[in-house]
Amino acid sequence: MEHSKAPIRLDLTRFGEGTGRHVTERPEFGKEAKRAVELHSLLLEGKSDLLKDGQTVMTGWKTESPFIADDRIDAIESAAKKLAADIDDYWSIGIGGSYLGIRAAIEAVRGSLEMFNMLSRKERGGTPRIFFLGQNMDPAYTAKILALMKGRNIGGNVISKSGGTVEPAIAFALIKDHMEKSFSPKEVAERIIAITDAKKGSLRHLAEEKGYKTFIVPENVGGRYSVTCPVGLFSLAAAGVDIKEFIAGARYAEEQTKTLPFEKNIAMLRAVMRYLAHKHMGKDIEVASTGTYDLRSTTSWMQQLGPESEGKNGEGLWISPEYYTEMAHANGQMIQMGKRNMFETFIMVENPGIDVTIPGKDTPVEYLDNKTLHFANTAFIEGLRDAHYEGGVPVMSYILPDLSAFTLGMFFQTEMNVIALSGLLLNQNPFIQPGVQQYKDIANKRIGENKKAPII
Ligand code: PA5
Repeated sequence: MEHSKAPIRLDLTRFGEGTGRHVTERPEFGKEAKRAVELHSLLLEGKSDLLKDGQTVMTGWKTESPFIADDRIDAIESAAKKLAADIDDYWSIGIGGSYLGIRAAIEAVRGSLEMFNMLSRKERGGTPRIFFLGQNMDPAYTAKILALMKGRNIGGNVISKSGGTVEPAIAFALIKDHMEKSFSPKEVAERIIAITDAKKGSLRHLAEEKGYKTFIVPENVGGRYSVTCPVGLFSLAAAGVDIKEFIAGARYAEEQTKTLPFEKNIAMLRAVMRYLAHKHMGKDIEVASTGTYDLRSTTSWMQQLGPESEGKNGEGLWISPEYYTEMAHANGQMIQMGKRNMFETFIMVENPGIDVTIPGKDTPVEYLDNKTLHFANTAFIEGLRDAHYEGGVPVMSYILPDLSAFTLGMFFQTEMNVIALSGLLLNQNPFIQPGVQQYKDIANKRIGENKKAPII
């Protein structure tokens, strides 16, 4: 599939250990490359128990989400834009996969929220302020966000595929109470969107009872693979992200993954290299690094997508997000000289879209006079990359042309393919999270959950 926009690239030249051999020279490389191609066909065909959650083949994020029909995007976009136009503050409630992808995409394209929310409505391009709730149970965080929205016109979406996850259920109980005390029942119903299963779960039942508008989390899409389905699209549109471009980017990346041969296929190459680093080179940690402030949540999304998909049977890569150069003065020491049990993936951005020029004359950085901060930042990040490589850390770099909705769509779709393939290479099901279920069950017992009377 041709597209006039620049594709994302993956620089693999330093994926070896310092002066040691490159991973492609390892004897296992050819065999695993072949296996990745076969596993990719398996993903497309959907014929394996390793792809199922219960009876459902969980590959909708690959076979359906990027190919969503235009009229469905229009329906999501017009509902989101109508809501956004009517309110001062937009809240999004959800946890894990019902939270991180949305935040990551909004912050990458529109800017980090702590600054975005300080701009005037005009400076934000007419979009409301944006707040997330339900991704933790911290009373101070929750109380402060509620206080920030007090007395203002608010609305938003509550997302839970299962419909009963406790953290978002509590946040929703608080928001619902807050809104019911401030607005008429009709206004409340118009300003709450529920995104949940088509038929089951307490949130579905509550939405029907109260008349909230709903969008569906497809049965065959798991939380952490949901940023390209209505779960992500609704909030992205409310935040002013061009969701048609976002989906066009995801579709482009999906076509590339499906059609390119292994040696040009970013998703397959990266999956095989992650696997070999973990299984044959003694690596337990993937450091996910960026020098782009607005990509910090994107590295947090990687931290969720990978470990929640791969952390099973005593295996899986721990993902450690690093934001440079801040963390170069912290974990950077460990990456450079600590235990050699890690590799590093950088996310570089060629054109950050905004830049400043350094007035270096008569200062200690005179040699940078008239140079841009992007130039200096890139030089430092590339310096860190080279130093870590020379220190024995295999390094690869995603290179994003910019921070457009199209580019982020490409990135998310590529990385979901990478992680699904990485899990399958480990002979694991990357679409289930029994450990998360275990914590939910144990914590629910402690909190006194009554299964017969769900909170929402
Ligand atoms: O990726 C996942 O499946 C999880 O992180 C879920 O998204 C998270 O547990 C929230 O689940 P739910 O949407 O059912 O509330």
